Amino acid sequence: MKIRPFAVEEWMNAYETKCVHNLAETCVASLTIGELLQLAGRNSDDLSALTELKMTYGAIEGSDALRDAIAGLYETKTRDDILVTHGTIGANALVHKAVVERGEHVIAVLPSYQQHYSIPESIGAEVTPLWLKEENAWLPDLDELQSLLRPDTKLVALTNPNNPTGSVLDRAGLEALIARVAPTGAYILCDEVYRGTEQATDSSAPAMADLYDKGISTAGMSKAFALAGLRLGWVAAPPDIRAQVMSHRDYDTISVGVLDDHFATLALQSKDALLKRSHDLTRSNLAILSDWVATEPHISFVKPQAATICLLKYDMDIPSHDLAVDILENTGVLLTPGSAFDLEGYLRIGFANHTEILKTGLAALSDYLRPYD
Ligand SMILES: Cc1ncc(COP(=O)(O)O)c(C=O)c1O
Repeated sequence: MKIRPFAVEEWMNAYETKCVHNLAETCVASLTIGELLQLAGRNSDDLSALTELKMTYGAIEGSDALRDAIAGLYETKTRDDILVTHGTIGANALVHKAVVERGEHVIAVLPSYQQHYSIPESIGAEVTPLWLKEENAWLPDLDELQSLLRPDTKLVALTNPNNPTGSVLDRAGLEALIARVAPTGAYILCDEVYRGTEQATDSSAPAMADLYDKGISTAGMSKAFALAGLRLGWVAAPPDIRAQVMSHRDYDTISVGVLDDHFATLALQSKDALLKRSHDLTRSNLAILSDWVATEPHISFVKPQAATICLLKYDMDIPSHDLAVDILENTGVLLTPGSAFDLEGYLRIGFANHTEILKTGLAALSDYLRPYD
């Protein structure tokens, strides 16, 4: 199966370990196991207890405790509605492979994580983009969506909160979107890995799987829970999709790691403490970023409503890839070029890394931008 190279992952693989100031990071500053234990009110006895843990495949579909804790993130789900996967990336890949057939029609809301258009394209589906526009605050134009929907549309795929813009469809927005899609009978896949990072409220935007009987939600431990190293995600889906995902999952997952299951359960059982840390960091860091943007004549942005990333628009006439490479070589600051999202004139910034990294990175960027004044 041929597939287009995954531009954003190639960019990260090439440069993430070579930068001084990582402003391309998409996770809330990752936790150590020690910090996780502390936030969960545990201590090193919990680590000692792990020496007894048998390194079998573990519970094939994920432990009951883990799936109960995941189900607790949804309004209507129970353990049986959840399939545990290798990260959100594994969840997304499984859903696309399970839902989409060659020749079928898919609408991908872009810009987005490339899985949501390049995997269905590689399967041989016809993928129609619905481009978000800056003038609409990076939210989908539902009349345009309506015009793209066809009787044979099988799937609409989006990220909410959106990567790379940080825009959020709230309950009313999601319900309006579902009202347009439901008459066609299409499934909606909503990648919700950034759920739990909302700026204005401590309650997350609703999950697609709670709102629509053909709604599929994917998510994981990496972003809001700051535990990407667990490589643990999940799918919440209706029974027909769960069965198809499970068939594919048997071929490429078997189970997730026993240790990943253990620590993800602990983290989700302490989710309020983890999310509070993430809210505090993303909110104070976004305030710093907003103040910086306000003082930079060549940079503007639509303030993100959630997530850990957003797009910075620049007014220089330079391709985003060349600009991002030049910034990296001259300052050590790593951003992500808009070209990694098939978008020009923008750089994506990750603002949820440790505050000191953000501050020193922005100061170095200011120095870089001065000659353009
Ligand atoms: C929208 C989106 N989905 C999925 C992923 C992959 O997440 P995970 O680390 O949970 O596999 C990412 C990572 O950047 C992402 O931005």
